[in-house]
Amino acid sequence: MADKKALVTGITGQDGSYLAELLMEKGYEVHGIVRRVSELQRDRIDHLFPDHWNPKMKIHLHYGDLGDSSSLLRILMKVQPDEIYNLAAQSHVGISFDIPEYTGDVTGVGVTRLLELVRSIDLPARFYQASSSELFGKVLESPQTETTTFYPRSPYASAKAYAFYLTRNYRESYGMYAVNGILFNHESPRRGKNFVTRKITWSLASIAAGRQKVIPLGNMDAERDWGFAKEYVEGMWRMLQQDEPDDYLLATGRTESVRSFLELCLDIGGFSYEKQGEGLNEKYIDTTSGNKLVEVDPYYYRPAEVDTLKGDASKARRELGWAPKTTLEELATIMMESDFKHFGLELPTKKSQVLSSASF
Ligand code: NAP
Ligand code: GDD
Repeated sequence: MADKKALVTGITGQDGSYLAELLMEKGYEVHGIVRRVSELQRDRIDHLFPDHWNPKMKIHLHYGDLGDSSSLLRILMKVQPDEIYNLAAQSHVGISFDIPEYTGDVTGVGVTRLLELVRSIDLPARFYQASSSELFGKVLESPQTETTTFYPRSPYASAKAYAFYLTRNYRESYGMYAVNGILFNHESPRRGKNFVTRKITWSLASIAAGRQKVIPLGNMDAERDWGFAKEYVEGMWRMLQQDEPDDYLLATGRTESVRSFLELCLDIGGFSYEKQGEGLNEKYIDTTSGNKLVEVDPYYYRPAEVDTLKGDASKARRELGWAPKTTLEELATIMMESDFKHFGLELPTKKSQVLSSASF
């Protein structure tokens, strides 16, 4: 039997790269959609190509854009995928306030383009939509489950809400195998550097290397349910392997504040520090050098904030057999170690060494 074919939009992103790896390990022929950019930067997937990877594995890239139906049609017709993972999006919540129309077009209407094309050409493909815990926004209950009512708080979340309901609507209207994965925040050494966890780990490594002085942060009271991205893509795949299509939530069930994550990383990095002040005057001082390590910059505040998120992934555990394994302490150590390594440094504490032998 021929290998299954998967089409991954957003393959150059954090999740796309881990998912492509997973699918290749499972023997899929993987096709990814990439956008035209002025400088080719495909660091997250470069290692997947045959010259640098097992030559039996298959991966192909196609130029397209979620804003461009004709390119999507051409790719769908050519690839004829068995499974489609729609991970492409303008995925930054804060930036969505600056480019709301574009975010709506790509993150929201982009899903209409894909689903309507799949329907129009009668493609019998299973469809995964990257939905988000941002949908819960100003949370109406805690922990959040698949039945918690949405309360989006940003143009990004509003676009994702439209995409969520459209995916469900195509399932119910046309009998398509189309599912939503409502994923809580998941991080890794491949996380974009303008998301808060990676901004913290990268900046601390940069400070340790003498290349940066201060980390400006926004709302440190915000609380998130942070998991490890590599484990979450396994959940995506499992959602497309069920007898019946359904929506699932993936989360760890543990919530911590941005401030707690920062202090965890400061400890892992071996910094001696003291927190001073409150609110806009809050700062962290390096007690060895006397230098300021962290300050609050209101530039990073959002017009409306998601204060706290905490997911209950019981349904995924029960029906998909999916459960997170990596603790937040392990995740922070993996990310800190990777960023320290980038600057030619090692973490001062050796507790991370067991984790470091694996490739992330
Ligand atoms: P990411 O790192 O920001 O990756 C986004 C991907 O989408 C990149 O490959 C990007 O391409 C691509 N893309 C952006 N605009 C596009 C367009 N107009 N046409 C085609 N491709 C486009 O995001 P991620 O963290 O991997 O997240 C993957 C998906 O899951 C996103 O939809 C995100 O909203 C959703 N999600 C993420 C999380 C999380 O915690 N990570 C949680 C819930 C849901 P370039 O490389 O060219 O920029
Ligand atoms: N990015 C950023 N930068 N966030 C900061 C900063 C900062 O300097 N300082 C504080 N924060 C706060 C944000 O205000 C937010 O409350 C929290 O840290 C997390 O911000 P992000 O890491 O940008 O992630 P997010 O939760 O807004 O969105 C991510 O997770 C969603 C799932 O809940 C993205 O990956 C979304 O695409 C995803 O849907």
